[in-house]
Amino acid sequence: MPGTNFSQPMLKEGALDGKVILITGGGTGLGKSMGKYFAQLGANLIITSRKIDVLEKTANEIEKETGKTVLPVKCDVTSYEQIENLLKQSLEKFNKVDTLVNNAAGNFISPTERLSHRAFDIIVNIVLKGTYYSTLAFGKHWIKEKQPASILNIVTTYAWTGSAYVVPSAVAKAGVLSLTRSLAVEWAKYKIRFNAIAPGLFPTKGAWERLLPGNIFEKFNLAKKIPVGRTGEHQELANLAAYLVSDFSSFVNGEVITIDGGEWLKGAGQFNMLEEIPSQMWDEIEKAVKNVKGS
Ligand code: HXC
Ligand code: NAP
Repeated sequence: MPGTNFSQPMLKEGALDGKVILITGGGTGLGKSMGKYFAQLGANLIITSRKIDVLEKTANEIEKETGKTVLPVKCDVTSYEQIENLLKQSLEKFNKVDTLVNNAAGNFISPTERLSHRAFDIIVNIVLKGTYYSTLAFGKHWIKEKQPASILNIVTTYAWTGSAYVVPSAVAKAGVLSLTRSLAVEWAKYKIRFNAIAPGLFPTKGAWERLLPGNIFEKFNLAKKIPVGRTGEHQELANLAAYLVSDFSSFVNGEVITIDGGEWLKGAGQFNMLEEIPSQMWDEIEKAVKNVKGS
């Protein structure tokens, strides 16, 4: 549509009316941005993480802005007991949960040989174990209650490419992607739907401080790695997430949707470096190639 800005809200008003959506890691960054938009669209929220003060601040902010109810619950997703308590508190407050967004994560850059086994564990425990613990606890509840539901997992593009220097995160996100695709089939009979989003670079304090400290972003000219020439806007991700948790996406199941401006494909295509060739050189190149005779 001419004049439409990509950073505007996309879904129609009331698109998530009546839904209760739980977002792990919902007090900060992308979790907070998704939550705010879900509430604007009519959902009530439960947001969780390890820091109750951060959660309460975010909950107040979203409640004030949207008039919806936001329940902050302190919960470390690496503890099954705490997740069971989270489920109990959520049901006491809202009677039901429709959607779980597994967004909580831990990550930092490091050469793998510098990591202790505890450092490896902490990332895998938050990202992979945290996701399958929440999935299992909520899934068992939904199956028992015969309640249709959906799960949205936040992964990364290196879930399938792998990546140096963030190996525990890459291993864990690959597991989350596999969990998404596996249960999308197995639990479809219970009307539980699974999808994932693989974001590219979206500026957040949590990610930037741990993955791009100092001037790494500028030093490696990372915006240039992205074909569309910019990082993502939180609203763009929130728009996609809102669609995937809404009933409009009922036939989308087991999908991972990449939202990265073409970044990972640029790194993958064998001849993508030819982008660097100035357009005037293509005449010479064409002539040289056409002059090749025989085999
Ligand atoms: C090497 C490190 C380290 C580092 C911690 N450790 N940081 N090792 N280099 N930079 C080691 C510690 O020495 C310790 O091992 C073990 O890891 C646990 O560290 P703690 O500090 O005790 O853990 P904790 O306080 O629980 O903190 C967890 C954390 C922290 C993951 C380390 O960063 C955190 O709380 N992160 C949450 C938010 C986050 O990471 N957000 C970014 C998500 S971005 P020893 O052996 O000494 O006991 C993301 C984007 C992906 O995922 C794609 C981007 C494009
Ligand atoms: P963020 O703000 O640091 O978000 C991570 C959240 O996880 C925090 O709120 C943190 O809160 C919570 N968390 C960490 N450990 C936890 C635990 N044990 N139990 C419960 N909650 C825990 O970073 P972000 O950039 O918004 O990341 C959000 C998601 O997007 C992550 O899954 C990340 O991998 C993904 N992602 C981000 C980017 C990007 O460019 N930003 C790119 C690709 C993928 P506490 O510290 O309070 O626990």
